[in-house]
Formats: sequence, C-alpha cells, structure tokens
Amino acid sequence: MSGPNISIYPGSFDPPTNGHLDLIERGARLFHRLIVAILRNDGKTSLFTVAERTEMLCEAVKHLPNVSVESFDGLLIRFAAEKGARVILRGIRAVSDYEYELQMALMNRKLHPEVETVFMLPGEAYSYVSSRLVKEVFRLGGDVGDLVPPNVVERLKAKGRVWEGAAPSK
Ligand code: PNS
Repeated sequence: MSGPNISIYPGSFDPPTNGHLDLIERGARLFHRLIVAILRNDGKTSLFTVAERTEMLCEAVKHLPNVSVESFDGLLIRFAAEKGARVILRGIRAVSDYEYELQMALMNRKLHPEVETVFMLPGEAYSYVSSRLVKEVFRLGGDVGDLVPPNVVERLKAKGRVWEGAAPSK
C-alpha cells in the first residue's frame, strides 16, 4: 500500500460522547489521518446543529494532530472516495450493533469495493453509551458528566436553559 492511509469516521454525533472520542483516539493511533465526518441532513431531528457538533468535536480532538472534523451530504462512500480514504471506521459496542453495521459495510463495499470498513471496539466502559441515551438522561435530569466530554456537558446545559426558557407556561 502506498500513500497516506486515510480513514473516515462517520456519524451523527448528536452529541459526541466519550465512546466516540475513545474510538477516535484509537483510530488516530492506527491511521496517518483520521477525518471525523458529520452527516448533514439525515432527515432526523437533531438537538445540535452541524456547526455546533463541528465545534464540540474540534474542541474534543484538538490534542490529536492527525484528526480533522468535516461534514458531508449524500453517500458516505462518495465522500470517502473524494477524500482519498481507504477505510471507513466504525465502532461496534455490542452484538446488537452488528446487523446494522454489517448491512452498511456490505452496501458500501458493493458501491465502492476499494474502500474497506474497519470495525473497532470502544473501551468497555463505553459499551452502553449512545448519543440517544445521553440526551434522554440529561433531559430527565440525570448526570451525564462521565459520558461526554466536558464541553458537551456545557453545551447540553446551555440547550437545557433554552428548553426551560421555551417551555410553555402552565
Ligand atoms: O451515528 P450514526 O447515526 O450511526 O451514523 C450513520 C451514518 C452517518 C454512518 C450513515 O447513516 C451514513 O453513512 N449515512 C450517509 C448516507 C449513506 O451513505 N447511506 C448508505 C449507507 S450504506
């Protein structure tokens, strides 16, 4: 293999969690360059804008010189090819992740066989952490301080204040 080994780590990151960060750190040790790629317009209602997610991720990875943060629209595999990436990096936390990940990896292979999907395991401490649960626990008043980077806690609190401000009076 010649040239730099570039890997894309795609996702929604709404918001980024310590599980995402753990995988980014592992990936940064394996690849010359790792591009964290935030999906734009995935049709889901998101809590954070793409600009906010980009800022949170950039802050959280600033100690990793070979990691950059970008966003993409449309097919992931097309973005990967545009970037000259040979690898799509995905985390598998539990068996329940596997079926969805397998389908995506095989579809991406069908579309562009030159790009390999590489699965990595996040640290065991993060095997139950997901962005969806972080948002739910935070919204219901639970402590998420151990589950997301400190800057994300601050952003969640700021959103919380907006939610409270926006709450209809009873
Ligand atoms: O964090 P997520 O929501 O699990 O990330 C899913 C993501 C962004 C990797 C996936 O939805 C994706 O790649 N979307 C881009 C559109 C695309 O390429 N679809 C075909 C996938 S086989």
